[in-house]
Amino acid sequence: MSETNAESDRVEVVFSSEEIANRIDAIATQIAEQKLDRLLVIAILKGSFVFAADLIRALYKVGLQPEVDFISLSSYRKGTKSSGKVEILRDIEMDVKGRNVLLVDDILESGRTLAFAKDLVTARGAQKVLTCVLLNKPVERAVQVEADFAAFECPNVFVVGYGMDLAHRFRELPFVGHLQNRS
Ligand code: IMP
Ligand code: MG
Repeated sequence: MSETNAESDRVEVVFSSEEIANRIDAIATQIAEQKLDRLLVIAILKGSFVFAADLIRALYKVGLQPEVDFISLSSYRKGTKSSGKVEILRDIEMDVKGRNVLLVDDILESGRTLAFAKDLVTARGAQKVLTCVLLNKPVERAVQVEADFAAFECPNVFVVGYGMDLAHRFRELPFVGHLQNRS
């Protein structure tokens, strides 16, 4: 199931580089409107690293100077299915107490990952916690959580590229794509 071969590698573009860049600029403007002082951006690795890199530079363009940290979370994903348990693989280094935090993730699907991260930084005393995702999948949430900012509504298919992988592949694609022979 998680194996890929040459024939399965045809990737259809779902969101192009240009569409992504435009949406990120729009979201950066919305974030700037929130007037959050000492903003700390926390990217949820690995999937959000490309999105977060582009987002922080878009934030710079609208006049913000965010600090940046990372957390690596795993939802025990095997192939394309999530098992439901979230584990911290690498924790945030910075103290979030009293900070305005923007959590950045690639996809909001069951909600478990984002809810876990939100609960964690809230429990550690963050002043305000906002969430930003590249893609919002229109599925029933296992945990009630919605993103404050979402670049796109995503078709309910498995997507890769722009940081997102299937079995460690395809992260380098500059667009969000769908592997044509997979649901
Ligand atoms: P959730 O915890 O179910 O909301 O899942 C969110 C996480 O699952 C995201 O951070 C992604 O890493 C991963 N994920 C969900 N759907 C996809 C997909 O279509 N492609 C790649 N990763 C996905
Ligand atoms: Mg992820």
